[in-house]
Amino acid sequence: MPDAGASLTVSPRSPIIGADIHGVDLSAELDDGVIAAIRSALLKHNVIFFHGQSLTPARQTALARRFGEVLHHPARGFYPESDDGLIVMDQIPDETFRINGKKVIGSNWHMDNLFMETPPLGTILYAERVPDSGGDTCFASLGAAYDSFSPAFRSWLDGLTALNSLAGFQTGGTAEVDGPHASVHPVVRVDPETGRRMFNVSSNWTQQICELDPIESKAVLDLIYQRIATRPDFQCRFKWREGSVAFWDNRAVHHYAVGDYTSQRTMHRVMIAGERPRGVGGLAGADVGSTVAA
Ligand code: SIN
Repeated sequence: MPDAGASLTVSPRSPIIGADIHGVDLSAELDDGVIAAIRSALLKHNVIFFHGQSLTPARQTALARRFGEVLHHPARGFYPESDDGLIVMDQIPDETFRINGKKVIGSNWHMDNLFMETPPLGTILYAERVPDSGGDTCFASLGAAYDSFSPAFRSWLDGLTALNSLAGFQTGGTAEVDGPHASVHPVVRVDPETGRRMFNVSSNWTQQICELDPIESKAVLDLIYQRIATRPDFQCRFKWREGSVAFWDNRAVHHYAVGDYTSQRTMHRVMIAGERPRGVGGLAGADVGSTVAA
């Protein structure tokens, strides 16, 4: 049988973030060498894109399992999820996908599930049906955003931790949540494989930097979020076609689903379990109940 990834090529979208991968059929059983090449591209480029794929839900979850355990969303009942952890997101933003009057399609810069003790390593998103126009997804590098600050500011941030919680998440009252709803993590995470430092905060989950008072914390977090959101040189934008796949390193990017479309957009989404984030010098957070500065 031919090797489904024998001619794999990696074409960076920019020196900072994003790469297109060609020459691999994700629906096939991939050998360990191809999986290692995909993993290495993910670590280097933070988000990778595949084109013209045909993935059944079973094949998509099987692919995810080559990179770690499939992560079930802890807010059970919020998203309809298959037994093996695949979520089908059927969206027409202005009509169907609202909870408590709000759009809940990821139309803000964020990372997934930072409130968990072990937030996801990554997400694999497959486009089954794309809108007539719009519905792109944007990605921003948390390592490049961190690197853009002065050494003195970075070094101060390296020693901080933040409380991340599910508190602001709109569940529409329909979801029960498995496991703790909050976790303290370092503000700056160090990737154990690459040693790269990157921000580890997200406005949808991060409530407060523990060592600062609320006003100080808000000012610092706003500065970080503004840097991530406003620098095109740290970002890339993906235009979906049917059969496109985006695989992002959830620890290394914020993503933003542009909610500008008016016709059906159907995406299949699988999250891969990660580990507890560690900061500089092994700095670790704590479980729920950590105190924050008053
Ligand atoms: C998300 O995971 O936030 C959704 C991404 C997308 O639908 O493009």
